[in-house]
Amino acid sequence: MTPLFPVKPYFITTAIDYTNAAPHIGHAYEKVLADVMARFQRKNGREVYFLTGVDQHGQKVQKSAEKAGVSPREFVEGVTEHFTALWEKLDVHYDGWAATTDERHQRVVQAILQRLHDAGQLYKKSHKGFYSVRQEQFLTDKERGPDGTFGAEWGEVVELEEENWYFRLSDHVEWLKSFIQSHPNFIFPANRAKDVLNALEGAGQDLCISRPVERLSWGIPLPFDPRFVNYVWFDALTNYVSFAGYLAAECGNDQLPEFSRIWPADAHVIGKDILVPPHAVYWPIMLHALGFPDNQIPQLVVHGWWNVKGAKMSKSLGNVINPDSLADTFTPDGLRYYLMRDIATGQDSDFSEERLIMSYNKELAGGLGNLLNRSLNMAHKYRGGLLTTAGYDDAENAALRHTVAEALPAYISAMNGWAIHEGIAAVWKIVTHANAFVDSTKPFSLAKDPAQSARLDSVLYHLAEALTHVAVLLSPIMPEAMAKARDQLGWDMPAGFHFSQLSWGLLADGHQLSSPQPLFPRLEIQTPEG
Ligand code: ME8
Ligand code: MG
Repeated sequence: MTPLFPVKPYFITTAIDYTNAAPHIGHAYEKVLADVMARFQRKNGREVYFLTGVDQHGQKVQKSAEKAGVSPREFVEGVTEHFTALWEKLDVHYDGWAATTDERHQRVVQAILQRLHDAGQLYKKSHKGFYSVRQEQFLTDKERGPDGTFGAEWGEVVELEEENWYFRLSDHVEWLKSFIQSHPNFIFPANRAKDVLNALEGAGQDLCISRPVERLSWGIPLPFDPRFVNYVWFDALTNYVSFAGYLAAECGNDQLPEFSRIWPADAHVIGKDILVPPHAVYWPIMLHALGFPDNQIPQLVVHGWWNVKGAKMSKSLGNVINPDSLADTFTPDGLRYYLMRDIATGQDSDFSEERLIMSYNKELAGGLGNLLNRSLNMAHKYRGGLLTTAGYDDAENAALRHTVAEALPAYISAMNGWAIHEGIAAVWKIVTHANAFVDSTKPFSLAKDPAQSARLDSVLYHLAEALTHVAVLLSPIMPEAMAKARDQLGWDMPAGFHFSQLSWGLLADGHQLSSPQPLFPRLEIQTPEG
């Protein structure tokens, strides 16, 4: 028997979220994006491993814990619960959970540091300079604004002198430049590679990878110098391999995937703010210095940001959007749909409650939900919900079948290219066409004329069949609502069903539909703008 899946699973990761504050709409977007892709690839015939998690070490956590009067561990455990509860609520199903306080991770970080130390890639030196407390990094003149000062984005900047451990980043900059130039797929969207190459111009700095324990105790101790803990980025980036089973045997780690089967990840899904330098500079160089060959360096999928009325979300502006309460109002699937339909992967978008209401009421309730409801209602009213296939066909029916058939390849290719909004649009052509088909075939008139009986059967069948395709294709985006739709259509998706099996005729002659129920009950909400 030929194996169903290629040997290597589709391995997708997301940035691990800081646990110094609660999740916001940007976090929700990134996780939903990755979850949609994971669900899509499964239905596309791939085995999938989806890793996500939380970034729990560092100065910000230490500070927030101090403020709250609890230990850092208690603090991160409390915040982490908000993230895991949200992922459950939003139906974000991950296979691996990367929490950087996990002992298995700490052992891998230490083993990696030891390797790099033994290979002469780390050295100790004293440095005096300006340090951003918020960003947890020393600043250089490049970070100064035109007026010579460090911008507000750096927060409090203090002058510091201290000894630290450094990673020989600069040794590998030339390699990285040529790697980026020869691997156009390394970064999606491709135009962001230019930003990386620009940042590499004149980059001669090594990377400080430690903090003295007096300044930061909440971190992973350096195995060769316990007066220091590891710097937060180095610890955070390593999650992508530690939880994929890298050095698992050496570190005595169990319950992790088999590294050689899963690595490299097909996609690290991250936001644009953490491309340069962490993911596009530190991370590939870390892997390269550890001996990973060029073909073992994962692709970066860089999404844009959700802003609010053109401004960045921030606590100080008081415009942080809470996904949890939005999921209560609009249902988890209503929120997932909005987050996927109103942004192009790679670009920014503006969060707007008005558009969220519009997408729910007009598209989900009015477009898709209403189509399902009226199609099922008519089938029940005229035929007791029993479908008949044979007996009649015409050009209008053929046109709808054609739209259904065309949607599949357009959807697959858009989704494979991370254009989720285009994938949705491809499926929506079926919804639009089917709604127009009801208007033009007028089943309510056909029902009054016994001579049109076979035609009525064919119309009812075409609507139900087209909707069944929609309820499969949109399942990665709205898993729960589409499962409900398939229940109402009386069609069980077989386990292991793939998009490639989608062809006209899912519903058999004599198929019995189940009873209709509003899928997306209309919301009576005033728009915030009035
Ligand atoms: O950066 N819109 O954590 P984080 C869209 N711990 N995405 C957004 C966003 C917005 N408004 N705001 C943030 C970190 N994000 C590190 C990552 S990875 C080894 C360590 C995205 O909680 C952001 O771009 O600040 C990032 O991908 C993710 O949310 C977590 O951000
Ligand atoms: Mg951030």
